Amino acid sequence: MNDYRHVEVLPLTGALGAEVRGVDLRQPLREEVWEEVLRAYDRHLVIWFAEQTIDHAQHLAFARRFGDLIRIPQIHSLEGEPFVQIVRREATDTGRVVGESWHTDSTFMDRPPAAVVMRAIDVPPHGGDTGFSNMALAWDSLSPAFQRMIEPLRAVHSGTRVFGSAYHAQQRKYAATSAKADLADLEMADRETVHPVVCTDPRTGQRHLYVNRVFVQRFEDMSAEESRPLLEFLYQQQERFDLTCRVRWRNGQVLVWDNRRSQHRAVPDYAGMRRYLTRVTVGGPRPA
Ligand code: SIN
Repeated sequence: MNDYRHVEVLPLTGALGAEVRGVDLRQPLREEVWEEVLRAYDRHLVIWFAEQTIDHAQHLAFARRFGDLIRIPQIHSLEGEPFVQIVRREATDTGRVVGESWHTDSTFMDRPPAAVVMRAIDVPPHGGDTGFSNMALAWDSLSPAFQRMIEPLRAVHSGTRVFGSAYHAQQRKYAATSAKADLADLEMADRETVHPVVCTDPRTGQRHLYVNRVFVQRFEDMSAEESRPLLEFLYQQQERFDLTCRVRWRNGQVLVWDNRRSQHRAVPDYAGMRRYLTRVTVGGPRPA
């Protein structure tokens, strides 16, 4: 749908993702421009702006348009800028790339991030893309009978496999500069919280799946073994290729993803190259 007058919107795939042109993020956005940016975001869930020469203050100011800022506990912030957090892997780093499995960020929190605004500072000339998948389409793809069956379910989430006891037991260490685990307290990582399996976006009323491989442990009141087959089916549905897009980063690019209605994964194909981005996280209500 092309009903934009102030910006140009170029969808990437039929599922999600669009580049928005005609916006200079150094300036506060005029209301009529902001209204169209938000419309593009609600339609495409992942939007980006190329060649932005912004500083941390402008990054923060743009992110604040989406809601109150929060920090996720498991990664470092820039010195003196608590809400600007670091996603960095040096050329010499080895080990796993942070975020390489499909996930929604930090769903172990009672009020997980609603959106993330990420800015590319020094990214490889090729490789290091981010894949995204549309959780509203994943919900829509299920039959009405199956939807009715899973609608009442709630899932137990925790950070244990990412920075808690399960992570330490596995010894699958992340690169030192990816800043995992050393910041966060085990108790927080192992703590469990419960969210509905099917949620409704408060602004658009759109329904979407809300389970992910990284943080979900099991369905509430069921064992992990009982939960696994149904969870695995939902994950496979969520990761269907036709529900995805893959975004290529360029220095200066600023990207916003809806962290409730989409999932994402980092593509670990840039060994020997530096990748440095900063991210600002936007909070939201409890998923419901
Ligand atoms: C993340 O998983 O939050 C980061 C994604 C990326 O580095 O592409």
